Amino acid sequence: MAAGGPALPQERRLVTEIPGPASRELLARRDRSVARGVSHVLPVFVTAAGGGVLVDADGNSLIDFGSGIAVTGVGNSAPEVVERVTDQVSRFTHTCFMVAPYEGYVSVCEELAWLTPGGHDKRSALFSSGAEAVENAVKIARHATGRPAVITFDHAYHGRTNLTMALTAKNMPYKHRFGPFAGEIYRAPMAYPLRWPTGPGNCAEEAFAVVTELIHTQVGEQNVAALVIEPIQGEGGFVVPPDGFLPRLAAFCRDNGIVFIADEIQTGFCRTGDWFACDHESVVPDLVTTAKALAGGLPLAAVTGRAALMDAVHPGGLGGTYGGNPVACAAALGAIAAMERGDLAGRARHIGAVMLPRLRDLAARHPVIAEVRGRGAMLAIELTVPGTLQPAPDVAKRVASACHRAGLMVLTCGTFGNVLRFLPPLVIGDELLGEGLTILEHAFGRA
Ligand SMILES: Cc1ncc(COP(=O)(O)O)c(C=O)c1O
Repeated sequence: MAAGGPALPQERRLVTEIPGPASRELLARRDRSVARGVSHVLPVFVTAAGGGVLVDADGNSLIDFGSGIAVTGVGNSAPEVVERVTDQVSRFTHTCFMVAPYEGYVSVCEELAWLTPGGHDKRSALFSSGAEAVENAVKIARHATGRPAVITFDHAYHGRTNLTMALTAKNMPYKHRFGPFAGEIYRAPMAYPLRWPTGPGNCAEEAFAVVTELIHTQVGEQNVAALVIEPIQGEGGFVVPPDGFLPRLAAFCRDNGIVFIADEIQTGFCRTGDWFACDHESVVPDLVTTAKALAGGLPLAAVTGRAALMDAVHPGGLGGTYGGNPVACAAALGAIAAMERGDLAGRARHIGAVMLPRLRDLAARHPVIAEVRGRGAMLAIELTVPGTLQPAPDVAKRVASACHRAGLMVLTCGTFGNVLRFLPPLVIGDELLGEGLTILEHAFGRA
């Protein structure tokens, strides 16, 4: 059996068509046993992964520009993660932290207090998925403030549970026919420079004015428990708000007793070139939600925030059977060690510096690319009918399929499905990164 991790040959190698016969056979089995609602970007069945590659059941080695949706920043089966998980799993796998505690949980909370923005006194609670963390952040904010309303944004994505579906903007495929949704959620326009009606130059100021007016006229500041925002939106299209928007929102929240929740589930842990995307403008949220890259591929999520807010909740009010599972905590401690050792925030900035000029070059040659945007190793290109803002999701689909056939895993996103996003593992080598970009360029040439 092939071992994964960074020892895997860091090469693209295609020995069959994509997906190959072994993957197609597994897909037929999958169709007979797995619900149709759970779908795939690319049905290659993975047998090993590490560094910047995914190896499939046919022996193909694909370049990974997806990191399992921003999870394996440290690379798949990173040695620090494997070592600590192996040690932990041989000692004990579960007690339930609410039944009998263990040190790993506490150590992860100490790391979160140290790494998340702000030097204030913090507490954390651990969960198993990002959606669960967002739900709990809202629970904590409501409990601490005694207020009901929550502000969310156009293009937001916060998960698929009932409350987080209500926070999420996009109908298809996330919400369609899954309602009714949780109440007391109010949606505000997002500062989306490319699509701001009066142009990107006015976006920060006008978007802030629209949001605060909406809160004032439709909800009432004193009724708002929390404002939840992704500092760079993920599934909604890698929308980067203009500088100034987030600090203004944070100040408005502070002035009105509203809990400012930064959902850093996709942006966190070095992805954007800082430990957290909020660091870019020194924004200090009251609560931060994290998951994905936190534990190098094992399911772990957290809410971290001001001690007074977090500790407002009565004992027993927060938790869950698996939240902060000891094996997942061991993985998180390994992943954080790997991020520190490898200066993965620096690596993310390097990846951005390599990718951005080539993506901009590509945009100069293909007018279907309306914008190249992102930060660090969280980059995207938005496709529109040339000269207009009319989304071109069909082109995004064709380019992604051409990349897949050539052995490059890329993902799409966006409210209109017209954004190609790039989330390579932060440990990917420059050669693979360059080869991936060449494949993308060829794919555009044929799209
Ligand atoms: C910003 C953001 N919040 C929440 C979630 C939900 O996380 P999970 O899929 O672990 O429930 C995601 C997942 O993509 C996300 O990107």
